[in-house]
Amino acid sequence: MKDRDICTFDNRVALVTGAAGNIGLAVCRRLADYGVRIAACDMDSAVVEERTADLRAGGADIRAYSMEVTSRESVFAAIDAAIKDFGKIDIIVNNAGVWNHRDVVGRQRFEEMDPVEWKRLLEIDVDGVFHCCQAILPHMLGRGYGRIVNTTSIAGEVGLPGYADYAAAKAGLIMFTKTLAMENAKKGITVNCVSPGMVARGEIVAEPGTWIGRKGSADEMARAIVFLAADESGFMTGVDIPVDGGRILGPHNCDM
Ligand SMILES: NC(=O)c1ccc[n+]([C@@H]2O[C@H](COP(=O)([O-])OP(=O)(O)OC[C@H]3O[C@@H](n4cnc5c(N)ncnc54)[C@H](O)[C@@H]3O)[C@@H](O)[C@H]2O)c1
Repeated sequence: MKDRDICTFDNRVALVTGAAGNIGLAVCRRLADYGVRIAACDMDSAVVEERTADLRAGGADIRAYSMEVTSRESVFAAIDAAIKDFGKIDIIVNNAGVWNHRDVVGRQRFEEMDPVEWKRLLEIDVDGVFHCCQAILPHMLGRGYGRIVNTTSIAGEVGLPGYADYAAAKAGLIMFTKTLAMENAKKGITVNCVSPGMVARGEIVAEPGTWIGRKGSADEMARAIVFLAADESGFMTGVDIPVDGGRILGPHNCDM
């Protein structure tokens, strides 16, 4: 370790949800690079196993767990198993989430929204984090140390026409983050979030609605998440970091 390092991890264990996905996998890669041991959770542990095989082959201590975040039983079982296997969890990255069923349908005006789908999205994106935090907090409080990092979205900061459910869910999560931060600030636990803008899958493509002019990479999201998970970020809590290429800065009517 050098004094100039801004991310160090003192023998830490992290649990990552949505670990088989684009951003979750990038977070696992970064954490593994820092020598963090990882409980990688997603709906199907076999998929996580497969996608993290190269990390294991490279020497990382990363184990896969099945976790359905809408099921309190599933969340508590996976977190209990991970604590048993690793002896502790220092960091949780609540990253599992869905944009929504409109990956197929596309944008949808609010009055056309199906209440069942509205509820389902909030169950995954909000209740899922509620269950995970309730499962992990007693453990972190007992140890007097914790880093909680939630993946939110700029949709929760500035809204997103056609996605009222998603914007509502992520806005709720940002305020949940701040409130949990306040409740636990004197107990050694920080609670922060990272709000991605548009994230590319694979090749980075242009994004005209963004000042920087392109989509971000999953790794660019992971770098911010990992910073908030590191030992050095202990004086930051209740923070929401947009990683969005400047998308929320305002109207894009200037070509300077
Ligand atoms: N991709 C973007 O442009 C973008 C923008 C803003 C915010 N985000 C947020 O980033 C996070 C990660 O998104 P991503 O782009 O990597 O998406 P992704 O679809 O690649 O990954 C999400 C992962 O969550 C898992 N998941 C979904 N529902 C689940 C459930 N019920 N229980 C357990 N796991 C579940 C999926 O299996 C998947 O592996 C999400 O919270 C998303 O809302 C993404």
